[in-house]
Amino acid sequence: MNPRIKAVPPSLTLAITAKAAALREKGEDVISLSAGEPDFDTPQPVKDAAIKAIRDGHTKYTATAGMASLRRAIAEKLHAENGLQYDHTSVMVSVGAKQCLFNLIFVLCEEGDDVLIPSPYWLSTPEMAKLAGANPVFVPCPEEKGFALTAEAVKKAWTPKTRLIIVNSPNNPTGAVYDDKELTAIGKFCVEKKIFVISDEIYERMVYDGRKHHSILALVPELRSQAAVVSGFSKTWSMTGWRVGYAAGPKEIIDAADRFQGHATANTATPSQHAALAALILDDSFTDGMIREFDKRRRFCVDRIKKIPGVSAAEPHGAFYILIRVDGLYGKSIGGKKVSDSLTFCEILLEKEKLAAVPGVAFGTDKHIRISYATSMGALEKGLNRLEKFVRALQ
Ligand SMILES: Cc1ncc(COP(=O)(O)O)c(C=O)c1O
Repeated sequence: MNPRIKAVPPSLTLAITAKAAALREKGEDVISLSAGEPDFDTPQPVKDAAIKAIRDGHTKYTATAGMASLRRAIAEKLHAENGLQYDHTSVMVSVGAKQCLFNLIFVLCEEGDDVLIPSPYWLSTPEMAKLAGANPVFVPCPEEKGFALTAEAVKKAWTPKTRLIIVNSPNNPTGAVYDDKELTAIGKFCVEKKIFVISDEIYERMVYDGRKHHSILALVPELRSQAAVVSGFSKTWSMTGWRVGYAAGPKEIIDAADRFQGHATANTATPSQHAALAALILDDSFTDGMIREFDKRRRFCVDRIKKIPGVSAAEPHGAFYILIRVDGLYGKSIGGKKVSDSLTFCEILLEKEKLAAVPGVAFGTDKHIRISYATSMGALEKGLNRLEKFVRALQ
């Protein structure tokens, strides 16, 4: 077996999801706050466009990088919404933002290169770096600073082997939205040291408290020749299952990613591309409505967590996750079972209270568990009541 895959652990999120599903099958009333996707339905015009595409016979391969019409529409969106100008030939469409990230990391890294990954991190990024033969190097984003990435921390982590940094704001799992000034300083440092920047902006529309999302590529235009922006349709239009994401960057890098994708998956599903094209011409009412609802739930969760003794949470300003600090409870037991880390916390929580959350260790922080508020208010209320009951019963 390829030694690179041996170094990749199985996904902890999937393991918890599978356990929760097994309990549900047994008829247990399981509440899951572990989802990484909006609970909203995909907008009807998007579904209609895919159905029409199938009826009209758009069921064959497209160009590997996606239909020219979709790439043009994405280039227009990047210009209008993000202040980034790209020709459509510098834009490519993939099987979700996930494949865009994998394509780019694989194309950019040489064996032994260092990849800077702000930590806590989205669990797939270090594994992608390892699969590409590179070394993930974690850049600490301390909770006391709202989990924000700072230029100072990036400078400290830099070595001559640093090839790439992956910036993800708004952030999964912390909910941090990076400050423009700090992003600018990070971008300038990357220009100076010739570090390639991949900016994962998949949660770009999910910002609260009057925060604004700005792409690091727009803040530091001189970065454009050594940076790529990645985003997609999964979160903004609740289209996780459609598998459409995109990347834009220097043409030679996008062309290389296109060659790589051509031998891996080829184009993402053609009806999904038609659906994505329809999403881009929707007005903002669907996404704005969803974000207003997420904001309500976010505020509810932050207030509710404050009332639970022994746990705490830094207020998230973006995405739809909250990291809850639980390490003050480690060493305590319930029914003869000892909570000793984030994994045992989540396992025993699921077993005793039928509440599924994700252990922070999956994201590089063993002091926390992650909940998602992309689920109904009813489930959040019930779920956090169960968390409180669990915490109070620990001895
Ligand atoms: C930070 C981050 N990047 C990328 C993705 C991938 O999204 P998709 O492949 O569905 O477009 C996710 C999904 O959860 C994510 O959380």
